[in-house]
Amino acid sequence: MTRLAGKTALITGAARGIGLAFARAYIAEGARVAIADIDLNAAEVAAADLGEQAIAVRMDVSDQGSIEQAVAQTVANFGQIDILINNAAIFTAAPLAEITRADYDKVFSINVAGVLFTMQAVANHMIERGKGGKIINMASQAGRRGEALVSVYCASKAAVISLTQSAGLNLIEHGINVNAIAPGVVDGEHWEGVDAFFAKYENKPLGQKKKEVGEAVPYGRMGTAEDLTGMAVFLASSDANYIVAQTYNVDGGNWMS
Ligand SMILES: NC(=O)c1ccc[n+]([C@@H]2O[C@H](COP(=O)([O-])OP(=O)(O)OC[C@H]3O[C@@H](n4cnc5c(N)ncnc54)[C@H](O)[C@@H]3O)[C@@H](O)[C@H]2O)c1
Repeated sequence: MTRLAGKTALITGAARGIGLAFARAYIAEGARVAIADIDLNAAEVAAADLGEQAIAVRMDVSDQGSIEQAVAQTVANFGQIDILINNAAIFTAAPLAEITRADYDKVFSINVAGVLFTMQAVANHMIERGKGGKIINMASQAGRRGEALVSVYCASKAAVISLTQSAGLNLIEHGINVNAIAPGVVDGEHWEGVDAFFAKYENKPLGQKKKEVGEAVPYGRMGTAEDLTGMAVFLASSDANYIVAQTYNVDGGNWMS
């Protein structure tokens, strides 16, 4: 099965977690992948493990110069970018009274501005090349509704859903499909931090929140990164050519929309 043969993907935040699983799945489908991450060491380890179809690229999605450099480096290496996954993001949680401006600015500069300006840089390349492309943004069930202790992260993911709609409508005339994936709760390093936040703010022992959210999923367990790869491959393939500006829940039944 090589549904992405001859394609090149840039995946942000791909040094670990969900982004790394996407990179592995894309390579298995015949694509070449730029593992773009602020953590260059981890990206290099991941790329070496994935083999010659992968390169490591340093990229800070909150920095305009870094975005442009990472896109240029990927194009210089592979000659083209056909697929972008805006996957890099950070999580934060706090009661409303304790949210700081600095925390808000940091989350929005990565989770929202990072998505917007990486889309812009890659879309400009795709438009110039004239062969269309696929852009996939990582939203979250957190973007579907607010949560008492998660105002800033939830708002950032709601913004990703909105940006996906606007960019999707704007770019389809160039043959660029913009869509998003909204995972529910996905086990991995990211959740160690999430669990620790809730342990602090909900007075729970470490591991308790993670156990509770897993048991609450209609499917019966937390998701894995691999549970998301089918949708990521599909949205990057020509099977998704007629899909525009949508956000798909891949969450074991947590949210319906
Ligand atoms: N894990 C979950 O439960 C879950 C649920 C819903 C949505 N998501 C979303 O899925 C995506 C991946 O999540 P994950 O669990 O794999 O996260 P993760 O924390 O395991 O990995 C995120 C990666 O992004 C990188 N990164 C952080 N800041 C960056 C920056 N400024 N520029 C470039 N790279 C940066 C990190 O170095 C890391 O490699 C995120 O968008 C997240 O919001 C995750």
